[in-house]
Order: sequence, then structure tokens, then C-alpha cells
Amino acid sequence: MSRPPMFQRATVTRVIKETADARTFVLAPHEGPITYRAGQYCTFRVEVDGQTLYRSYSMSSSPDADDELCTTVKRVPGGKVSNWLLDNIADGDTLDMTRAFGTFCLKESDRPVIGYSGGSGITPILSLAKSALTATDRDVYLLCADRDPDAAIFTAALDELLTRYPDRLTVQRSFDIENGFLTAEAVAKFLGDLSDADHYICGPEPFMDLVEDTVTGRGTVFVERFGGAAQLPEGAETETATATAADTGEEVSGTITIKLKRKKVTVSREAGETILEAARRGGLTPPFSCEAGNCATCMAHLDEGTATMRVNDALEDDEIEDGYTLTCQAVPDCATTVVTYED
Ligand SMILES: Cc1cc2nc3c(=O)[nH]c(=O)nc-3n(C[C@H](O)[C@H](O)[C@H](O)COP(=O)(O)OP(=O)(O)OC[C@H]3O[C@@H](n4cnc5c(N)ncnc54)[C@H](O)[C@@H]3O)c2cc1C
Ligand code: FES
Repeated sequence: MSRPPMFQRATVTRVIKETADARTFVLAPHEGPITYRAGQYCTFRVEVDGQTLYRSYSMSSSPDADDELCTTVKRVPGGKVSNWLLDNIADGDTLDMTRAFGTFCLKESDRPVIGYSGGSGITPILSLAKSALTATDRDVYLLCADRDPDAAIFTAALDELLTRYPDRLTVQRSFDIENGFLTAEAVAKFLGDLSDADHYICGPEPFMDLVEDTVTGRGTVFVERFGGAAQLPEGAETETATATAADTGEEVSGTITIKLKRKKVTVSREAGETILEAARRGGLTPPFSCEAGNCATCMAHLDEGTATMRVNDALEDDEIEDGYTLTCQAVPDCATTVVTYED
């Protein structure tokens, strides 16, 4: 269980204005360059109006093509963290961030790489495209959907890649303002007779559903989901936890002990309840963000016992073997469970 602390400080060496609503933050982690793979993300911890909030942001840089580590954030209307970052973070400021997580990465293959992005979904797709073009011989096709040309992030970066890789890169744009939302027919037309490829999809949920439905059967599909449950207000969480446990009707016995910072609580085990829910029921406020198994913000170490994750789109096999689990998804399946949240 010897692992560096979950969070480290990073200096934002530059803020780049990509569009009216999107900024790239160039990051210099204080403990030296981090190891990451194209398509991965880091989770950031920020204080907004006295509240500690956690959000994940994908790398727009590629470890194979770029010297700098960059993440790109787009405003979500009414969103707490995206707006705070864009309105408050300037050159020279610092942020707390984790190491890189995520499994939305290039898989070993010689098939074409096809990326589908909607809005800020271009962030990991650009990283994947740069790595595929730089580190492999694979052809890359991108279908990028945006509201209008002014909202499209990385137009210049993609134009530059097109100049550098004219025979291996194809970029097709779709603007809502011109054609309406992307349709299944447009996706099928873009694909032509490409029947065996690796498809990487990231964007708003309806966009992802449409593309996924259309490309299924034409190769392997990988998805990265940005959206997630917003944080629940204090109090509502306990109701959710109790309802989940009661709904299963199953009788269980045993305890869950949770260690968070200098606190340690032990609660009785409830059927169907996740470790995160148990921790909240015990009065703790552990870190979390998506509550959907996508972001690893809620990761903790299983010191004792075993638990089954309902969904895991964040941890790699070796991390699970090392005893880590996503507490928002992990339901203990033994009488005694002890977990530690690392700071
Ligand atoms: C693995 C992962 C990688 C991500 N990478 C990026 C990235 O590279 N760039 C980027 O800009 N964002 C990315 N996100 C999304 C990001 O983590 C935040 O969810 C987003 O910035 C909204 O946070 P917020 O605090 O501003 O909004 P919140 O205050 O959390 O939410 C405000 C409202 O907006 C809704 N909402 C939340 N997220 C979204 C969303 N993404 N789109 C539309 N509505 C939403 C909520 O349901 C809520 O109603 C990623 C998310 C995940 C899980
Ligand atoms: S809170 Fe995102 S994986 Fe658990």
C-alpha cells in the first residue's frame, strides 16, 4: 500500500483561451512530470465558496506528442467548478490534482482509430488522435460535433495535425447551427465502408448514445462519460443510502470501518449499500464526484475484506489487485470490511 499521496500541487504555468467558453490549463506538477496515457484524466480538488469540490478533467495533451501537460475545461452553464476555474485561475496559480486515471486509452491494434467528439469531449479525443498519429501508423478519422464554428475547441490544433498528417488524418465537422444535431445517417455516411475499427466516443449523453448505437457491430467501441450526478445536498445522501439498502430486501450482518484523515468510524453493514454511502451514514464526508464509476475521486484502499464494484470505468487491473476500489460503486460482500481514504 505504498503509494504517493492522492493529491499533489501543480502550478498553472499558462492559461490558453481556446474559445469564449473554454480554456486550456498548462500544468507543472510540483513533484515532477506525471506519467499518463493519452485519453486519461486527473481529478482536481478546489475550494468554491467554502466547499471542497472534486472534478475530473481529461488531458488534451499527449504524452507521445507534447512536452507540456494540459487539460482543457469548458464552462457548464451554472456549473460550480468549471466556471470557478475559468473565472479565477490565472498564470502562476496553483491547483491540487491527482495522478492520471482512466481506461479510455489506445488499445494495442492496427485498426483505424475513429474519434467522435461533442463539445468538450474533444479533449481526450485530441490526446488520443495525437498519440495515434505520433506513436503508431494507424489512420485516424475524427467526427467533431459542435454548436457552431466559434464553439469548436482546437480548430487550429487539428488544422496543424491535418497539415502534418495529410494521408493519415481525416477531420469532419458537424455544426448544429448548420445541420441540426448529428444524425445516425450522418455518422453512417462518415464511416462509409469502414467496417472494423476502434471507435472512441466522448460528448453529451444523447450524442454518445446515437453514435454508439450507429457504430455497434463495426469494431470495438470505447466511451468516456463526462456527465454525472451532481453532488447531493447534505442530508439527502442519508435518505438515498437507506433507500438503496432497504430496496434489496436482503439480510446482512457485519461492519464496515472507514478511515478518513484522522477520523475512523465503524457502521453496521446494510444490504446493497456502497462503502461511500456507509461512510456518509457514519457522518464522514469522503471525496466523490461522478458517483458513476467514471472518475476515481472516491477511490480508497481495502485494508480488510472484499467488495464488488457495480461499475468500474476508472481503475486498472493492477490498482484493483493492489487493493484499491471505487467506494461509490463497491458493495462489501463479507462480514468485516476496513477501508482507508488516502489524502
Ligand atoms: C472522466 C471525466 C473526464 C472529464 N473531462 C473533462 C474535460 O476534459 N473537460 C471538461 O470541460 N469537462 C470534463 N469533465 C466534466 C467535468 O468533470 C465536470 O463534470 C464539468 O466541468 C461540470 O462541473 P461543474 O462543477 O462546472 O458543474 P456542476 O456544478 O457539477 O453541475 C452543474 C449542472 O450541470 C450538469 N452537468 C455536470 N457535468 C456536465 C457536463 N459535462 N455537461 C453538461 N452538463 C453537466 C449537472 O448535472 C448539473 O445540473 C470530465 C468528467 C469526467 C467524469
Ligand atoms: S465518484 Fe467517480 S468513480 Fe466514484
